[in-house]
Amino acid sequence: MCPMNSFSETIIDWFNQHKRDLPWRNTKNPYLIWLSEIILQQTRVEQGTSYYLKFSKTYPTVKHLAKADNEEVMKLWQGLGYYSRARNLHITAQVITQLHKGKFPVKYADILALKGIGEYTAAAIASFAFDKPHAVVDGNVFRVLARVYGIETPIDSSQGKKEFNALANQLLDKKNPALHNQAIMEFGAMHCKPVSPNCNLCPLNSICFASQKELVSELPVKSKTIKVRNRYFNYIVLNHKGTTAINKRTAKDIWTNLYDFPLIETNKEFREEEILLSKEWKKFIGRNKYSVKSISKVYKHILSHQRIYARFLEIDCITSLEKIIPSSAIIIKQKDIHQYAVPRLIEIYLET
Ligand code: ADE
Repeated sequence: MCPMNSFSETIIDWFNQHKRDLPWRNTKNPYLIWLSEIILQQTRVEQGTSYYLKFSKTYPTVKHLAKADNEEVMKLWQGLGYYSRARNLHITAQVITQLHKGKFPVKYADILALKGIGEYTAAAIASFAFDKPHAVVDGNVFRVLARVYGIETPIDSSQGKKEFNALANQLLDKKNPALHNQAIMEFGAMHCKPVSPNCNLCPLNSICFASQKELVSELPVKSKTIKVRNRYFNYIVLNHKGTTAINKRTAKDIWTNLYDFPLIETNKEFREEEILLSKEWKKFIGRNKYSVKSISKVYKHILSHQRIYARFLEIDCITSLEKIIPSSAIIIKQKDIHQYAVPRLIEIYLET
């Protein structure tokens, strides 16, 4: 086993030589660190950086974010996915402004109590901003520790979470928690990569269990495979004299509070000619007069637990849209659609 202090020294040494210069690394401001960590959850650094720069410029302090209009926050978030992150970010900014007088809480437990902040993010903020000795455990850390220390407990089990968390905290350089935490995450992201890491050039090679036993591609272990659900969306893009109808998604489903078009969801994929013959379509359009302008190709859109197959039916309506649309929809000028926060799928359709 690698002696504890030399593990930390080795990764900090590596970090000092190889770290990327990322904008949120040059600050101790807890608000900016929180912002960066929420953006970076489920998002690659290359994609997240421009969002971080946009958000930190538009809302330079937690008070600016708290005061912002929610639709504007969602619009700025558009394209990042996992929209509950943006909703919680906004709610928590308001809580910090009202309950904590705009000052970010300093104690780990108080940070963890905030909506949208889990153990990883609380440890990141507490250590990066306030130098508190809490080890971060994210996907990168799981991978590094599983390989170096040969841990086969599944990382998605409660036992695994306990074990990795305990080891990460044992290894943490308590005098340099910010540096240590950044170093191990960066080492996992840049060197100890999920697939084909360059073990020959690794500074931990001589003490790495997985490298010595040729188990690098076996570790870490996950117990569950994610079940993916297929969904078939038939979007109705209604046109009438430069207007169209959009729908705010309010149900407990994907994309809550974002806008999309009126939707007929079916339990299988309809071929182009089948859609207009279906009972779902007849129920939607009723006796209203229309002509079909176009039916799009199928757009395949992958989310973490769902695969969406979407088609867009562009319909020219003779009658005004009020008579057709579901009560949840609103009528807007077509050219104004860019003012609304829409899911990435709709954004892609509008771009093509
Ligand atoms: N991913 C999540 N948090 C990060 C950070 N602070 N730096 C680089 N990548 C990250």
